[in-house]
Amino acid sequence: MLCFSLKLQLNDLLSFGQHRIWKRMAVSWSGAKTGDNVLDVCCGSGDLSFLLSEQVGSQGKVIGLDFSKNQLSMASSRQDLVSKACYKNIEWVEGDALDLPFSDCFFDAITMGYGLRNVVDKRKALEESFRVLKPGSRISVLDFNKSTQPFTTAIQEWMIDNVVVPVASGYGLAEEYQYLKSSIREFLTGKDLEKLALEIGFSRAKHYELSGGLMGNLVATR
Ligand SMILES: C[S@@+](CC[C@H](N)C(=O)[O-])C[C@H]1O[C@@H](n2cnc3c(N)ncnc32)[C@H](O)[C@@H]1O
Repeated sequence: MLCFSLKLQLNDLLSFGQHRIWKRMAVSWSGAKTGDNVLDVCCGSGDLSFLLSEQVGSQGKVIGLDFSKNQLSMASSRQDLVSKACYKNIEWVEGDALDLPFSDCFFDAITMGYGLRNVVDKRKALEESFRVLKPGSRISVLDFNKSTQPFTTAIQEWMIDNVVVPVASGYGLAEEYQYLKSSIREFLTGKDLEKLALEIGFSRAKHYELSGGLMGNLVATR
């Protein structure tokens, strides 16, 4: 739990609190509404799952899925500590984004926050989300943006080297942030993400740049 509050503090510090806004936007773009059955893939300690839970309310259902037992136990401890009644609608499932343990056309909306960049097979992860989404429903994928603008990339990399990693080191979390620069370099641009989603079969795909292109959000409709 201490580790989780440190991370939240660190994310607030590193993003000037903006990560909370980006996550709210990601949930809103997912199209989740009252009573829906929704999935948060790569849920980590559950930031997006808790927001989804507020969105779908106690008549809805949220599944937070991650392959890390440790992350899921942090998410579950948070759920025990918070008092909002709707948070009881969240179930934590240990599973792989590349082999989702759900039947076809099961969910009304899916979110994935800072997960796609980390999965080994991005196409397979999107294919799996496509499979478990109901036709007409959306996935909203929030992550760092791999910009095509050299100036934006230079600012992003400067901030990672000179702000993110040094500040994270102060919290003893340097290792978790050191790989950021290379993982963004190896990630897909917004246009590539749109193209991949359409190839997989999504009927619409639009990537939005956030905060001057530092972050990005893919919205794809099955
Ligand atoms: C950077 S965290 C993001 C957590 C959370 N979504 C957020 O926005 O704060 C990425 C998460 O993806 C999970 N992850 C990476 N690959 C995965 C996979 N193939 N299946 C399930 N979870 C995965 C990791 O365990 C980690 O918790």
